[in-house]
Amino acid sequence: MEKPENPDLAELAKWLRYYRDLGFTHIFRSPLQPSPLAETPVAVATAAAPTTEPEAYTIAMPTRTPKPAAVPPSGSDLFAAAAPRESLEKIREDLGDCQRCKLSQGRKTIVFGSGNPKAEIVFVGEGPGADEDEQGLPFVGRAGQLLTDMIEKGLKIPRPDVYICNIIKCRPPQNRKPEKDEIAACRQFVERQIDSIRPRVICALGATAAETLLNVKEAMGRLRGRWYEFRGIPLIVTYHPAFLLRDPSKKSETWSDLKMLLARLAG
Ligand code: URA
Repeated sequence: MEKPENPDLAELAKWLRYYRDLGFTHIFRSPLQPSPLAETPVAVATAAAPTTEPEAYTIAMPTRTPKPAAVPPSGSDLFAAAAPRESLEKIREDLGDCQRCKLSQGRKTIVFGSGNPKAEIVFVGEGPGADEDEQGLPFVGRAGQLLTDMIEKGLKIPRPDVYICNIIKCRPPQNRKPEKDEIAACRQFVERQIDSIRPRVICALGATAAETLLNVKEAMGRLRGRWYEFRGIPLIVTYHPAFLLRDPSKKSETWSDLKMLLARLAG
């Protein structure tokens, strides 16, 4: 860790060493993270966030209840910056020949994710379909072609420059929605992928990605088009490309979400 230059940083470094010595490997800044018990996601929208209150920090604990830490408030992301980064290779290695849930029985290939490990944007989808299961890569079927167009023609970014992954890594039978236990078994991996990459923005594609990353349950029409935070990283929700294939009328809203994303990157 670099030597801090001012007393606040020295104090912060002291706390970080303290928590590291206690065995914590991750400390996340997530002042706007909704409580798992939150009834409405509106409370987590950045636009609605209070600006005068000092920010709180939460520490990743084995329990899912966020606990405020006795840490000096600061506007920076020093916690995230100072935490050791796990490599994507290490996370993939941990995933191994995963048998953590029943989806392992029907899959052909684990679809971990692909793209730039230092991407500024991470797209998170739901789970692999038949083409992805076959090839071991995310978003390579029809929905994937549309996502590629959104990235390359819309955002004007080469697809290999972003990172793309899914909430679950194995194809559900008949492409059904992933079940709660499957998401629970897999969610640590997408969270660790995001922690590893630490992109400037996350784009959650569809309800499963949004609900899992934000711990909310809400209609897509209400979730999209506004900013949230996932562990201090700005997150925007938009429609899943597979949904857009079924309802192309939603493409204009999707484009407006992508423009918000571009504006955020530019800013
Ligand atoms: N749909 C997803 O959510 N992910 C993929 O990888 C492909 C289709």
